[in-house]
Amino acid sequence: MDSRWNLGFLSKVERLPSSFELWESIANDLPTLLKDSGKQLIDKVDRLPLITIDESSLPTEQHWKRAYCVITFISQAYRSIGQCTSLPRELAVPLVAVSSHLGLSPSPCYAAFVLWNWHLKNPSEPLSKDNFEIALSFTGSKDEAWFYLIHMRIELAAAPGIKAVIDCIEAIKKDDQQEVMRCLKIVTDCISSITGIMKEMYYECDPSVFYNKLRSFFSGSKEGIQYEGTEDPDTFRTYPGASGVQSSIIPLFDIFLGIEFEGGTKSFLDGMKVRMPLEHRQFLTDMKNEYKKDEFSHSILRTYVELHSCSKDTYNSCVKALVAFRQEHIDLVTNYILKPSNDTATEGTGGSTLEIFLTKTKEKTKSFEL
Ligand code: ALA
Repeated sequence: MDSRWNLGFLSKVERLPSSFELWESIANDLPTLLKDSGKQLIDKVDRLPLITIDESSLPTEQHWKRAYCVITFISQAYRSIGQCTSLPRELAVPLVAVSSHLGLSPSPCYAAFVLWNWHLKNPSEPLSKDNFEIALSFTGSKDEAWFYLIHMRIELAAAPGIKAVIDCIEAIKKDDQQEVMRCLKIVTDCISSITGIMKEMYYECDPSVFYNKLRSFFSGSKEGIQYEGTEDPDTFRTYPGASGVQSSIIPLFDIFLGIEFEGGTKSFLDGMKVRMPLEHRQFLTDMKNEYKKDEFSHSILRTYVELHSCSKDTYNSCVKALVAFRQEHIDLVTNYILKPSNDTATEGTGGSTLEIFLTKTKEKTKSFEL
């Protein structure tokens, strides 16, 4: 197996070099610094120097990713205090630089909270669902840790599915029906495991804690925030927040199965891709080019299944698994967001009108059964 995909879309990151100790110590101490209306955090940020970042101060990609997590956590924590309309230069300048290096927008994205926000409990053992823990937290609560861990376990559970999507391209080209069915079954099993892991969210993450204490840390800004010291410091930048919709797993399985969306749903999902790490975006584009030869054709997998009706049931099981995932997602959002907000028109942190968006995507997925 291409070992690149052993971790799925998760990446290991490195603690920052000692010249960034001020950042690290603030980011690691947020639960304490945010107490008493965040006075300690404001004080620490006010006294931060502008730390230079470049290829020599951040020698590896893992360091750049860690820098993105650290600055995102500090910035979101800072923004959560009172009415913040601008991000100080000491946060804004490095946030813009690190994001630009990573091909991300300088705003909170899923990668900062999930894909890069973990470390191994026992570094001499490989990554497994029991051998990792979250790195940074705003509240230090078990609910917050569990919220991230569930997403991380989902990412890890998707890893064999990513490999199967890659393998299936060759299998289709070689007309190896057994192999196509094997790949389809692996993806189906992955999606079912992911749905099972999602149901575990309730074990340790209380919906009211999530809604009242955690959710705002992932939010974007509709009113806009000024980024002091950057090229356009007078502009109020608006942006969506971090959301699971910025994970590449489900978009990859949609490409694989040939599930396509239209209109507002499509534009929203395409917009979210810009908030995925560049390497994942590129991978999705590559997979899309492999699976869909041009704008007018179906996915090569769907066409293959239509020609070989014996694999139709296997394909349909995979679509059904994705429908079940999307239904579970609706249930989770209902319990964690819509019920506590008492408003079915509530928007997700990514900016979609949750209920409409999730129901539409589920119904559309259903329509792709053969
Ligand atoms: N996307 C999740 C929400 O809307 C985090 O709260």
